[in-house]
Amino acid sequence: MTPATGPARAVTARVPAKLNLQLSVGPPRGDGYHDLVTVFHAVSLFDEVTVTRADRTSVAVTGEGGSAVPLGPANLAVRAAAALAKATGRRVREAGVRIEIRKRIPVAAGLAGGSANAAAALVACNELWRAGLSVAELIDIAASIGSDVPFALIGGTAVGLGRGERLTRALASGSYHWVLAFGASGLATPDVYAACDRLRAARGGPEGAAEAPAPRLSTELMTALRSGDPAAVGPLLSNDLQPAALSLQPLLRRALAAGREHGALGAIVSGSGPTCAFLAANADTARDLAVAVTGAGVCRAVAVASGPVPGACVVEPGAQW
Ligand code: C5P
Repeated sequence: MTPATGPARAVTARVPAKLNLQLSVGPPRGDGYHDLVTVFHAVSLFDEVTVTRADRTSVAVTGEGGSAVPLGPANLAVRAAAALAKATGRRVREAGVRIEIRKRIPVAAGLAGGSANAAAALVACNELWRAGLSVAELIDIAASIGSDVPFALIGGTAVGLGRGERLTRALASGSYHWVLAFGASGLATPDVYAACDRLRAARGGPEGAAEAPAPRLSTELMTALRSGDPAAVGPLLSNDLQPAALSLQPLLRRALAAGREHGALGAIVSGSGPTCAFLAANADTARDLAVAVTGAGVCRAVAVASGPVPGACVVEPGAQW
C-alpha cells in the first residue's frame, strides 16, 4: 500500500478529451468571452497526470505535442494545483508538487487537452494532499482556470451554459464511436472566436457579431442522444466555430469531405479545431473509416475513440496507457 505521507507518495489521474456535439456561440460579452450553449461529450483519448510532493512546483510533459506545452506558471495544471492549494489554505512550503503530464490529447486541437490536464491536476492534488474537496467544490475551482475545465472533471455527456462552465448532465444512451483526424498545426482558441466575430461582422455589417442571436439548445440533438442512435445523432452535430476554423485552416474542408465520402454519419470540426471528428455506426465501421481517412492523406494522424467516458479520476499509473 502507498504510504500516506513522504516523498515517494505519487498520485496519478487519467482524464479524457472532449468533443462538442453542439457548439452554439452567442455575441461577444463585455468580459471577452461568448455565451455558449454546448453539448460536451468525453471520449476515450486520455492524458495522465502524476503529482508527487516536492520542495518547489515543477512540470514535465511527454507524449503527443508535449514540447508545445508551457512549463511555467502559465501551464494549466500548475495553475490548477496552485488554485487548489490556495482554496484549501496550504502554506507555500506545503504546496510544492512535481507534475508529470503524459499526453495523448494533441495540443491546441479543440479537444480541451490543457483543460483536461488542469482537471487531472485538481483531482490528483486533492488526493495527494488528502484535501477532501467534493466534486462540486473542485468544479468551482475548475471554472476559475478555464471554461472547459469543469466538464473534464465530470465527463460523460453534458450541456454547458455560460462560458461553458455551467454544467448539467445530459440523458444520453448508448456508446458512440468516433474517428478523430488531427491537423498538422494547432489553432489558438481566442483566434478562432475572434475569427467567428469577424465573419459575423462581415456578413451582418459592423454590428453583425454583437447581434448574433442568443444560443439555444438543440432539442432534436437531445432527443437523438436519448435514442442512442448514431444515425440520428450524426446529421445533428453542429459547431458555430466551424466556419471560423475553416477560414483559418482551409485544408480542413478536405478532411471533412474525406470523412463524409468514406461514410461518416456526421463530420464536424471539434470545438475551436483543428481536429475533425467523424461519427461512425459502430466500432468496426470506425476502424474502417480511420483506415480510409488515413489513406486520404488529409491530416497528420488519425485515432479512434468512443464516448461517453467518465471525467478525471485517480488511477494506477499506466493503467490505461
Ligand atoms: O476559458 P478558456 O481560457 O479556455 O478560454 C480561452 C479563450 O477562448 C478565452 O480567452 C476567449 O477568447 C475564448 N472563449 C470565448 N468564449 C467562451 C470560451 C472561450 O470567447 N465561452
